[in-house]
Amino acid sequence: MKKEIINYLICNDENKVNDLFNKALKTREDNVGNKVYLRGLIEYSNICHKNCYYCGLRKDNNIRRYKLSEEEVIDAAIFAYNNNFGSIVIQSGEVTSKKNTNQITTLLRKINEKTNNELGITLSLGEQDKDTLKEWKEIGNAIRYLLRIETSNPLIYNKIHPNDNLHSFTNRLKTLDILKELNYQVGTGTMIGLPFQSVEDIANDIIFFKENDIDMIGLGPYIEHSDTPLYSYRDELLSLRNRFELTLKTIAILRLLIPDVNIASATALQTIDTQGREKAILAGANVIMPNITPTKYRSNYLLYENKSFIKYTAEESMNSIFSRIRSTNLEIGFNEQGNSLHFIKKKY
Ligand code: 5AD
Ligand code: SF4
Repeated sequence: MKKEIINYLICNDENKVNDLFNKALKTREDNVGNKVYLRGLIEYSNICHKNCYYCGLRKDNNIRRYKLSEEEVIDAAIFAYNNNFGSIVIQSGEVTSKKNTNQITTLLRKINEKTNNELGITLSLGEQDKDTLKEWKEIGNAIRYLLRIETSNPLIYNKIHPNDNLHSFTNRLKTLDILKELNYQVGTGTMIGLPFQSVEDIANDIIFFKENDIDMIGLGPYIEHSDTPLYSYRDELLSLRNRFELTLKTIAILRLLIPDVNIASATALQTIDTQGREKAILAGANVIMPNITPTKYRSNYLLYENKSFIKYTAEESMNSIFSRIRSTNLEIGFNEQGNSLHFIKKKY
């Protein structure tokens, strides 16, 4: 299987690549249908106690730190609800203090109250301990959790993170196991085009998702950030265009290999290509995350540089995405949580 995956990844023949995308689209239609599900993305806070070598939000970076107020988060959730989004994502840097995790618990309760328990919630709040993850899950609507593995190769993992207990590959794997055990729909993903990463590594990432029975995948191209340690490897990277193409191929291969999985079309794709996100949808992705963070905070949530939509309002981000999806002839899954069929089939 690995050989075949690598062959697709390195293939430059336009006809063959288009074939791959068309097969992925057909597989998607046959298994998860024609709908693209919406997740309103709320970038809750850029405060982070980690120091990942690739990310603009790393602790050592001197940026203006923010955390949305309870009211701002609830307003964003209500915006999603009123615009018939089936669900939202609450994402932030990693903070594990009790004060912070309790705030999330309160927020989850209030969002449920204000949206009639109808909005599905995906959490993307880093590695948290089992008790915290359990507490959030028991509130009810926090049904999904996203925690990217970043790379399935521990040697690369150790090169792109500081080598200390806070940045442990083993703990990341363990947290994914806990999430599974707690019955979350588990999402993970990687960055594509990292320094030190070969095509074989990407093939291994693909096999990792399959073997670990992952329910949701969110992956995107690595985009260098000048204010991070990994920037010193910028001359060794593939071109942005190559990273973009590799990401699309990875999405298509994953759709073929795990037909009923949810795959998100990452915002980072849009940074490289103005039609990036619809291209991912046409390669087999079925989830899209319009950014509904209040505009004034967006320029402070720069994981990478040249991020798209940072000047947009929630309304503009939403409309831009709607017209992009409509241009593909696919349907928008309004008022649906769009849960992972892969997860549902496993359970029932
Ligand atoms: N390029 C692309 N993706 C990045 N992320 C962080 N920094 C970058 C970057 N420079 C991604 C990581 C993380 C997610 C929240 O953002 O994969 O898990
Ligand atoms: Fe923090 Fe996540 Fe950025 Fe790492 S990738 S520094 S955990 S926000």
